[in-house]
Amino acid sequence: MLLHEGLFLFIWFPALQVKVRKLEYTNSYCRVELRCQSSCQPKHQSYIWIKNGQEILRETSSSVFVSVYPADKYSCALEGYKEFPSPSVYAPQLPSVSISPSGEIVENRKVILTCSSDANPAANYSWYKEDKQKPVSNESQLIFSSIQASDTGKYHCVAANPLGRKRCQQKHINVKYAPRLPSVLAIPSGETGEGSSVTLTCSSDANPGATYTWYKEGDKSPKASGQNFVISNVRPEHSGSYSCVAQNTRGRQSFSVHLTVVKDPSVKIMNIIRLTLVVLMLIPVVVLCLWTRKGETLSSGTGPIEAAEMMQCASDSVYQNISA
Ligand SMILES: *[C@@H]1O[C@H](CO)[C@@H](O)[C@H](O)[C@H]1NC(C)=O
Ligand SMILES: *[C@@H]1O[C@H](CO)[C@@H](O)[C@H](O)[C@H]1NC(C)=O
Repeated sequence: MLLHEGLFLFIWFPALQVKVRKLEYTNSYCRVELRCQSSCQPKHQSYIWIKNGQEILRETSSSVFVSVYPADKYSCALEGYKEFPSPSVYAPQLPSVSISPSGEIVENRKVILTCSSDANPAANYSWYKEDKQKPVSNESQLIFSSIQASDTGKYHCVAANPLGRKRCQQKHINVKYAPRLPSVLAIPSGETGEGSSVTLTCSSDANPGATYTWYKEGDKSPKASGQNFVISNVRPEHSGSYSCVAQNTRGRQSFSVHLTVVKDPSVKIMNIIRLTLVVLMLIPVVVLCLWTRKGETLSSGTGPIEAAEMMQCASDSVYQNISA
C-alpha cells in the first residue's frame, strides 16, 4: 500500500508547476501573478507557497500576486504534500557567454557567440552591439557566418523571463585581418630634384597593426624598416622602384612606387658659377706667379725647378681659393 502510494506520488507530483504571468517590470523587482497548476483537479485543495525554502502562505486560491526580486525562488505544494513541491521559478541568473571557435577571431571565419542563463521558466535571449537600443539578434546564439572587420566591437546578451532580466558581461570581439593594400605617399611629391631629400610614407590598415619594410627593386636586403623611409641628398642613382611591405601575424601586402631623380638645373648653374669664379680668381694668381718667376729667372736662370715651383705656386692658390 505504501509502495503503491509512493509510486502514485512520484508519477503525479512532477505535474505540479508554477505558471507565471508578468504584470510589471521595474529595475529592482517584478510584479507577477503566480498560479499553482496541477495536472488533476483536486477538490477543496489548499495551496502552500514556498519562497527560498520557507513556507510563506497558505491559500485556497491557486493564484498569488507577489513582487519577485532577483534572488527569489518560488514553488508551491498541495496541502498535506509539502514534501513534494513544484520545481521553483526564478529570474535568469547571470548569463555566461561562450565564443566558438575559442582563441583569435579571424576575418571571414564563422564565429558563434552563445549566451546561456539558468532560469525557470526558460529565458529568451537578445544580443546587443555596443549600447545600441535595437538588438542584433533575438536568439541565444549570435552567428556570424563570415565575420568582418566591421563586426569588431563590444557585445552583450540579455536573458529575460517573466520574473526578471539579466545582462551578461560585455565581450569584446576583435577581428584580426591581414594588411590591406598599402598606400605610399611621397613628400615632396612629383619628380625629385637632385640633392633634395624625400620621405616615403607607407600606410596599411591591419589588425594587429602592420610593421613596414622598404625594399629597392633589384636589392635583396631591405633598405629601411618603419613607416617612413627618408632618402636625404637624393642622387640620380636613387632612381628606381621602391616597395613597401606591410606585414602582421595574418599576412603581408606590398605596394611599389617609382622614384625619378632629375638633374636640378639650378644645381648645374650654381656649379658653372662656382667654376667660373675659381677660374677668374686663378688668372691674377697665375699671372702674378709668372711675373715673379720671370724676374727670378732673369737673375738666377734655373730652368726645370722654376717650372715645378711655378706649378706649386698655382696649386697652392687653387687650394686656398676653394677652401675660402
Ligand atoms: C528582436 O525583437 C524585437 C522586439 O521583440 C524586435 O523589435 C526586433 O526587430 C527583433 N530583432 C531581430 C534582429 O530579430
Ligand atoms: C522575452 O521575455 C520577456 C519576458 O517575458 C518579454 O518581455 C520579451 O518580449 C521577450 N522577448 C522576446 C524577443 O521574445
